[in-house]
Amino acid sequence: MTNHETPSGHAFAHAPMANCPFMPVFGPPSIMFERGRGTELWDTDGKRYLDFLAGIAVVSLGHANPTVAEAVGDQLDRLLHVSNFFANPVATEAAVRVNDLLHDASGQRGQLFFTNSGAESNECAIKLARKFGGRGRHTVVSALGSFHGRTLATLAATGQPAKHEPFAPMPEGFRHVAWGDLDAMRAAVDGSVAAVLIESVQGEGGVHPATTDYLQGVRQLCDETGALMIVDEIQTGFARTGRWFGFEHADVSPDVVTLAKAMGNGMPVGACWARLDVAAAFEPGDHGSTYSGTPIATSAVNAVIDEMQRIDAPAVAERQGRRIVDALGGVPGVVDVRGRGLMLGVELAPGIDAAAVYRDLLDRGLIVNAVTPSTLRLVPPITVTDAEIDEAVGLIAGALADRVGNSAGPVQEELL
Ligand SMILES: Cc1ncc(COP(=O)(O)O)c(C=O)c1O
Repeated sequence: MTNHETPSGHAFAHAPMANCPFMPVFGPPSIMFERGRGTELWDTDGKRYLDFLAGIAVVSLGHANPTVAEAVGDQLDRLLHVSNFFANPVATEAAVRVNDLLHDASGQRGQLFFTNSGAESNECAIKLARKFGGRGRHTVVSALGSFHGRTLATLAATGQPAKHEPFAPMPEGFRHVAWGDLDAMRAAVDGSVAAVLIESVQGEGGVHPATTDYLQGVRQLCDETGALMIVDEIQTGFARTGRWFGFEHADVSPDVVTLAKAMGNGMPVGACWARLDVAAAFEPGDHGSTYSGTPIATSAVNAVIDEMQRIDAPAVAERQGRRIVDALGGVPGVVDVRGRGLMLGVELAPGIDAAAVYRDLLDRGLIVNAVTPSTLRLVPPITVTDAEIDEAVGLIAGALADRVGNSAGPVQEELL
């Protein structure tokens, strides 16, 4: 690695792309991080950052969380992997606990399949919906602006046509409709539709929460047509929005729920959960993955649930999200703060370029991301402290101060 590093530690930024050991899908990374603790990260120069991105809503219990580190460390000494020909007590405990959480949230008993990423969780859900639907019923309807993953099927489900174009032809059987438009959804869901795949808050699309009416309308439409309702909780799940799962805000009961990200606090693990009769559509041989439910990955899941229950993570996310919204309310250059819990989109005044603010904030030591040309996304660890929130809001105010014209209107709060 060292031969790719510049002396400043700002890896690859000034080097020819061919010298970078990674495929050029993310652009050259400009900062190399070597250490984290809670909301803080340190780069190889020793510079400290506040991480309000949390690995894109992954490290919800903070970097180097001691409970997770201890559980994974103990498991390393005991057993890493045995294959799916055999059971292991760690994955079994994690599966029971995740099923229990989803039973509490949805009112339905179900079963799950452990995955290694969000895309794999959605792949599993799409395959399950096709198997459950049977021949002639294989189409998946999702929303424009959605994000469901980068494998071919989940990319086809992702409602961003520009991302499809370089990889055409896309797999067949995917349809997209305008986000939040129930009439458009109604027109798209016919007898050929196996499932509607929907986020409870569109994250990559700009942090847009689904309204209660929308999610309840989708539920009703699925009931009327026999299509499954798959809710993609990969970014919203595990307390991020102020509830264990984002669909709880709308009081709906999905047939299938997909998870990843915060579930392992950085350990690569996800899950596809389905209510019992839907899960029963899978038979031995229909699906699998070498690393599904390894003891090492699922030891992190058990520790995350322990810790989230101990601190009442949904309530903390709700409270700290409210604190950020209130504090940003007074910041010139911010015209809107929308989202739920600790999943927030900060809309900047017209003419302010979110990507430029993102780079400025990075220089100042705050990590966020520009999720649209005018929106910053804040998804800090749920364990973020009051002092860290105040510090971050101060840094945002500083970065916006130079850019604010007379166009900045009053803040509208949309914390649904
Ligand atoms: C809502 C949603 N679904 C699916 C994915 C894909 O997850 P992964 O990158 O782990 O495959 C993401 C990732 O950002 C996501 O936000």
